[in-house]
Amino acid sequence: MNRKPHLPLLTALLSLTLGSCATIAQPGNTFPLPRATYDEQWRPQVHFTPQRNWMNDPNGLVYLDGEYHLFFQHNPYGNVWGHMSWGHAVSKDLVHWEELPVAIPEAEDIAIFSGAAVYDRDNTSGLGTAAKPPLVAIFTGWNKSTNNQSQYLASSVDRGRTWTRYGKDPVLNIGSTESRDPKVFWHAESNQWIMVFAKAREHKVAIYGSKDLKTWTFLSDFGPLGSEGDVWEVPDLIQLPVDGNSSKKKWVMVVSVNGGSLYGGSGMQYFPGDFNGTTFTPDPLPAVTEPAGEVFADFEGADYGGWEKTGDAFGTGPAHGSLTGQSPVTGFKGSGLVNTFLNFDQGTGTLTSPEFTLNKPFITFLIGGGNHPGETAFNLIIDGKVVRSATGQDSEALRSKFFDVAEFKGKKARLQIVDSHTGGWGHILIDHIKFTEAVVNDMEFKTLWADFGKDFYAGVTYSNLPTDDKIWIGWLSNWQYAGQLPTYPWRNAQSFPRKLSLKTTPEGVRLFQEPIEALKNQRGARFSVQNLLVSKVNERLMSAAVRGKSLEVLLEVETASLQNVGLKLHQSSKEETVVSYSPLAERISLDRSKAGEGSFNIGFPEVHAAPLKDVGSTLKLHILLDTSSIEVFAEDGKVVFSDLTLSSPSSDGLELFSTGGDAVVKNLEVYELKSIWKK
Ligand code: FRU
Repeated sequence: MNRKPHLPLLTALLSLTLGSCATIAQPGNTFPLPRATYDEQWRPQVHFTPQRNWMNDPNGLVYLDGEYHLFFQHNPYGNVWGHMSWGHAVSKDLVHWEELPVAIPEAEDIAIFSGAAVYDRDNTSGLGTAAKPPLVAIFTGWNKSTNNQSQYLASSVDRGRTWTRYGKDPVLNIGSTESRDPKVFWHAESNQWIMVFAKAREHKVAIYGSKDLKTWTFLSDFGPLGSEGDVWEVPDLIQLPVDGNSSKKKWVMVVSVNGGSLYGGSGMQYFPGDFNGTTFTPDPLPAVTEPAGEVFADFEGADYGGWEKTGDAFGTGPAHGSLTGQSPVTGFKGSGLVNTFLNFDQGTGTLTSPEFTLNKPFITFLIGGGNHPGETAFNLIIDGKVVRSATGQDSEALRSKFFDVAEFKGKKARLQIVDSHTGGWGHILIDHIKFTEAVVNDMEFKTLWADFGKDFYAGVTYSNLPTDDKIWIGWLSNWQYAGQLPTYPWRNAQSFPRKLSLKTTPEGVRLFQEPIEALKNQRGARFSVQNLLVSKVNERLMSAAVRGKSLEVLLEVETASLQNVGLKLHQSSKEETVVSYSPLAERISLDRSKAGEGSFNIGFPEVHAAPLKDVGSTLKLHILLDTSSIEVFAEDGKVVFSDLTLSSPSSDGLELFSTGGDAVVKNLEVYELKSIWKK
């Protein structure tokens, strides 16, 4: 019985102990997996993947002497999480990578978790010499016998080729099993190194200062704020000019949140604000305005009112947060909610509402708990039949969902909460049921999301870059299914490196992202048209046989009087990945529900959507499509989606569409992207 939310760690450990389709070798064994050919099905052609075996977070992103280093969370012995070590690759252009031997291997005492690397130019640490200043890696050591997570050092004076552990570790131990992922930078104004790391379960970022990377002083804590999810991980604190003006800079705290993120699972949020060398002060978050409507049930009373109960999962009345043996429950409104963890995961039963008449188009509610469609479920019942049903996300963080019930207007209905599952995550959480005229996904507005897709996590910036650019790489995956992706002999990719900027928008200062310029060097065959109707563009695309799995697409299209406009990619008669913008709703979406082998696990076949305002008369999209992913940069990177796709090799078509009129395409450029692996 798993009473805890699915932590990456726990999930991974579980798959490690239970075994999976991959062979797990022990250290000392030869590699169990075959050498890579880089043309395996789903192998990204313009994204970094390890030759073989498992990868998660990017670590220690640092530039030195003409080389960009990419370290990464790596299992050198199999393609599931485990034996965490720092894998290593280097690049001269952030595009072509040479994979080097494991840099910092798992040790007897600790596994090597995420962290940062800095160039200690003045040898403040004394771990190099004045003539040979060291690269210093600051990472979390996870003590395998005590579970303690503390911060450790290793250094290198040969361009990151060999690493020596400091030995007098840990340099920072707060006695916690949930303190991890240090990111370190030199803060000139206060003349010290600053470290931020996650107090994961407390939903806080700790800020420490040091003169020598070895002795650390507590400065302040930031959080909780925004989206808490189950855990906070991998923070970064960066400073960027606003609107390109270097005399007007702003700080941004970046926090990865896992479990109950925007679409469940993992995601990344950011907080613009100010950092004074001690404390990070965030700007106020955007206000969430709930759509007006009628609250049907808020579960604030001592009992369930007119709801009828069966079984033993519901008790005498609403719960107030978590129950005995349960991890913290978050995200409910007021003090009460329905929580069927009453008899741990064993309890079962139903809770059925009084009958009501449907007179509004939407039913909104907060839902959490187990992901067992039909078994830990929230149902709408009409004439004895379940006509709508939702389930949790294997998370104790409630999130808002809704039923579109416009078609049932005037019908009599009941709502029913069901718990018939007694295995892991055999419970459901429900709160704040409302009948509304409109829907606001308050998760969208609760915080500023760095990415509206489901596959961008643990993003961190490069240190010691030769220019003032801020460039980051994130893990192109999600803990919800990372361990089950059907790729072999490797698992998981890094995002394409992105340049960050801050721009003033009507809603406030926002983070913008664009793929780095060097992507252009991968451009091969080109197709382009200007000032042509969508229907004509499609004819040209057909006759020129423009298709491919790895493509760069630049589109500028007029939006006037249209319902929807967008593109279908990785397309065939059976499969497609759809990017669609609605000028009326001012929303953009990415639909991967038909993007291939999506049914292997929860949370893959989905539509992801984001508000996209102030587009004006022309929508601008920049798309980076690879064998098994899509990254969409809308309106110069104001809204970004990163999503994995698993379409079959023959789904390589490309088509535009517009509804409500034939849109004018002002500019379309499609480039085949040359593989970064093949000469
Ligand atoms: C984030 C994370 C980190 C941890 C690492 C372990 O994805 O869970 O918090 O350091 O992965 O591999």
